Amino acid sequence: MISQNFLEVTIVQIPSARAADSVAIVGIRGMKLSVTRALFGAALVSGVLLVAAPASAYQAGDMILRVGAAGVLPDSDSEDLATAGFAGGQLEAQDAVSLGITFTYMVTDQLGVGVLASWPFEHDVDGAAAIQGVGTLAETKHLPPTVTLQYHFDTASPVHPFVGLGVNYTYFFDEKTFGPLAGLNLDLKNSWGVAAELGLDYELSDNWLVSGQVWYADIDTEARVAGVDTYDVDIDPWVVMFGVGRKF
Ligand code: NI
Repeated sequence: MISQNFLEVTIVQIPSARAADSVAIVGIRGMKLSVTRALFGAALVSGVLLVAAPASAYQAGDMILRVGAAGVLPDSDSEDLATAGFAGGQLEAQDAVSLGITFTYMVTDQLGVGVLASWPFEHDVDGAAAIQGVGTLAETKHLPPTVTLQYHFDTASPVHPFVGLGVNYTYFFDEKTFGPLAGLNLDLKNSWGVAAELGLDYELSDNWLVSGQVWYADIDTEARVAGVDTYDVDIDPWVVMFGVGRKF
């Protein structure tokens, strides 16, 4: 992009004995610069150096891969566990950290498709409310792949903020039970839900960037204990990731 908001520069011919001096900047007006291709070329030919344009926004076809530490921070609550003999008790999933990988493919200069992938997260599921003191009742692993449609703002700078909206699928596996639930089979139903995202990439160079992303995912599962009792558990976590990335 040649046209940027800088200074208005006017370049005119000034008669001169030496060809090299024949182009000079005679006017700098206001804070708005419109540099046409012709003027830009003339400036280069005459050896006049213009202020370098900042890193441009992402462009259609760009691919951005980011790797970093990801945390799943549930804001969970569950149905009352009365039928399991824990009146007033609830299940509460605890925080977990893992390796996150995100990928963006820019379909246009502004619209991208984003994917969140990760190494599995492993959560403790503790007793809560009336059974707060009971400790860890269960443990589960999950993979929460998330696909969003992202809108990237053009800031004409190395800072690339974006927002996204999409869908999360959470696959639970390797459930285990402890304490009062020990020996009972626990199965968590996989979940489909809406996910929203905020992200910020900061370009360190043309290809390398640092990045922070936050998602809110509606993850509602059903915990089935001993194959009979089922309890709705809303996990609804914030997912945060900080990492480094590369633009291809
Ligand atoms: Ni929910």
